[in-house]
Amino acid sequence: MPVYHPPKIASSEITSKSLYLGRRDFIAASGGALAAAAFSSSAFAAPLKAAPSAYKVDDKLTSKEDVTSYNNFYEFGTGKEDPSRNAGSLKTRPWTIEIGGLVAKPQVIDIETIMKDITMEERVYRMRCVEAWSMVIPWIGFPLSALLDKVEPLGSAKYVAFETLVRPEEMQGQAGIFQALEWPYVEGLRLDEARHPLTILATGLYGETLPNQNGAPIRLVVPWKYGFKGIKSIVKITLTEEQPPSTWNVLQPSEYGFYANVNPAVDHPRWSQATERRIGEAEGLFGGARLDTLPFNGYADEVASLYDGMDLTKFY
Ligand code: MTE
Repeated sequence: MPVYHPPKIASSEITSKSLYLGRRDFIAASGGALAAAAFSSSAFAAPLKAAPSAYKVDDKLTSKEDVTSYNNFYEFGTGKEDPSRNAGSLKTRPWTIEIGGLVAKPQVIDIETIMKDITMEERVYRMRCVEAWSMVIPWIGFPLSALLDKVEPLGSAKYVAFETLVRPEEMQGQAGIFQALEWPYVEGLRLDEARHPLTILATGLYGETLPNQNGAPIRLVVPWKYGFKGIKSIVKITLTEEQPPSTWNVLQPSEYGFYANVNPAVDHPRWSQATERRIGEAEGLFGGARLDTLPFNGYADEVASLYDGMDLTKFY
């Protein structure tokens, strides 16, 4: 499996014409009603402009079909196909993110302001789920640090906490008697992890705005960590001094750590993390041809130093 190389600026092979068709042009061309629908239903994704990738793995892309139909988004059900089936009910406009806590300039930022003010770029990253499957996804997004700069974190801020929307009327997994998780879904990063250039907030994939099932309108992507750190449909970001809660860690701390760095040497108590199944790729007879999982998901050169001196079997 090809390993990740530090950023090499190359024109992306997968950049389609639609990437260069601005969202504004699309809105102007399609009229208000369709444009409104485009942002409220996973059935309509709008073209999203982005600069070519500065960060791109060589691996073959997972098909758009698989990326958008094999999902984990428990707010819409626990089955892999539930999110694509049920997430159309999520209204993604208007949408604001409240950013506060230990910052000099707390604010409520509208998604439209973010899309207008910050340059979007394409990032082709591997995603490794803790369940031992993986994908290669052409995200569109921007470094989380660009948003953090706007609110000016104080010197006392050590962590960044994230929250997903709670809206049972639109998220059927949050309604009813059986609730798979405690809501809101929450996640957190250390501030240096959050500021790392590989850490992005994604607003699109495959040249279009994010489908709802993938976490529209904005979700976290941290490519060297297990996929559950990539919290979807974010409405709140809080800078804190203490380590914030992380949904899966709170649910089962012996199985899911706060750090959740991809690590083939530390198995999940119930399965090995040494190999992974690449979604959409034939596994061969007897489940062979699984890929070896790489330390930090192949991003060790960039991020291993963040954990110097830490025992990664303890801080898993
Ligand atoms: N975010 C929220 N709010 N709810 C979830 O259930 N699932 C996580 C993560 N973010 C989840 C979430 C898990 S377990 C994974 S593997 C990834 O989203 C899946 O992202 P994808 O469906 O875009 O591939």
